[in-house]
Amino acid sequence: MKTKYIDLIEQTFDFPQEEFKLNEDQLHFHGIDLMELINIYGTPLKFTYLPKISDNINRAKNWFNKAIEQHNYKGAYYYCYCTKSAHFQHILDEALKNNIHIETSSAFDIDIVENLKLQGKITNDTYIICNGFKRDQYIKNIARLINNEHKNCIPIIDNYEEINLICEETTKNFEIGIRIASEEEPKFEFYTSRLGIGYKNIVPFYKESIKNNTQVSLKMLHFFINTGIKDNSYYWNELRKCMSVYVKLKKECPSLSSLNIGGGFPIKNSLAFDYDYEYMISEIVNQIKQSCDEAGVEVPNLFTEFGSFTVGESGGAIYEVLYQKQQNDREKWNMINSSFITTIPDTWAINKRFIMLPINRWNENYERVLLGGLTCDSDDYYNSEQHINAIYLPKYDKEQPLYIGFFNTGAYQESIGGYGGLQHCLIPQPKHIIIDKDTKGNILTSIFSKQQTSEDLLSILGYDFKLNQISKKKEIAKNTMLDYSNSL
Ligand SMILES: Cc1ncc(COP(=O)(O)O)c(C=O)c1O
Repeated sequence: MKTKYIDLIEQTFDFPQEEFKLNEDQLHFHGIDLMELINIYGTPLKFTYLPKISDNINRAKNWFNKAIEQHNYKGAYYYCYCTKSAHFQHILDEALKNNIHIETSSAFDIDIVENLKLQGKITNDTYIICNGFKRDQYIKNIARLINNEHKNCIPIIDNYEEINLICEETTKNFEIGIRIASEEEPKFEFYTSRLGIGYKNIVPFYKESIKNNTQVSLKMLHFFINTGIKDNSYYWNELRKCMSVYVKLKKECPSLSSLNIGGGFPIKNSLAFDYDYEYMISEIVNQIKQSCDEAGVEVPNLFTEFGSFTVGESGGAIYEVLYQKQQNDREKWNMINSSFITTIPDTWAINKRFIMLPINRWNENYERVLLGGLTCDSDDYYNSEQHINAIYLPKYDKEQPLYIGFFNTGAYQESIGGYGGLQHCLIPQPKHIIIDKDTKGNILTSIFSKQQTSEDLLSILGYDFKLNQISKKKEIAKNTMLDYSNSL
């Protein structure tokens, strides 16, 4: 009978896969020897594998270019990175190697844009698509960018007041977009997204507030489906509704030239992940072209703002199984040396599933387990994978450490987890390692941030950590004196 962990994986999935391969009984990810990473840096650790960011950007660009050619589409494609999925400089540095544009969501995002400009990493030609509900500081920052000649800064109007608020702050003419408030999927708790302006109100809003405003010209219609770009009737129906608004608006507004289909490209969340990106893009381009052809209007340039897709598959987290608690005949809890709630908060907040695999001991027998985090919160656990309502791992053995990895965790987890801040039960935030490849394909690693210390957390909490240090020094001095007097 086949009872080893490797057998389970080989019987369940096509394995090995492009990024996951075994070297004897140890897992490699994109050619990175994860056990070596563990041996160098210890666990828990989080990592970012930078080359995957460029890889995914170029995959998407190629799919769009292919679809544009296939359908003889006369518009161009612009890839924007949605910064809120990971604002870190190393992420933007990598993404910006690929001639892309940026989507922002809040005031401080504009400070990041200005910082990147000062470093020469972007120029006035880089599109800065400003989404989000805009007030005070965000309005001021957007206006500053426009006043400083950033001609490709495009605020996406989210509510009726924003145009006037931006106009009051800027002396220059500028281009804008309007966000359509999509209708949510029927199972949602509300009908219409709170973001944007309802379908029916877009053309009247244009006529009333934009058409005769000499300072602004409408360039873009923005359409983002919260639940993502999926091959289901809901998505296609919403896209059709969006296109019907686009063609009506285009007939009223000749400056309209672009359609932004937002983010929402899925990422691999299981070894069984099966999503035909190429088909989806081809079909989206095809549908947009058909709607425009039928209405006799020019096709728009296409923009996307992929967040998860850009950065998600570059990230991972590695933990050690510290101990196994058998709480009854059936439930074995493998306790990890960190917390799910704080390090991959979406597992707890929205029950999101990531690829989870052991790093070592693949040739050993497996068992069904539950994974527990170190906080005392009863919700700090992980108990199922995307494809199955259970978790299997090599059998716990006190004498042989077991390491587990969560993969494709690179989007949103740091900002939702409050990177660098207070952590639940004061379980410190793990170290973060950046992984890159040189031109010869050698793996390069460096520490981006160390594991949080007691001092880090106590200072956030307002305690004077020096008191602890003085007390510890006194204790050491006392013990040294005692040792000395005992030795006399
Ligand atoms: C307006 C907008 N664009 C893009 C994105 C990125 O979505 P994703 O990370 O699913 O690609 C979001 C995410 O919330 C968004 O609100």
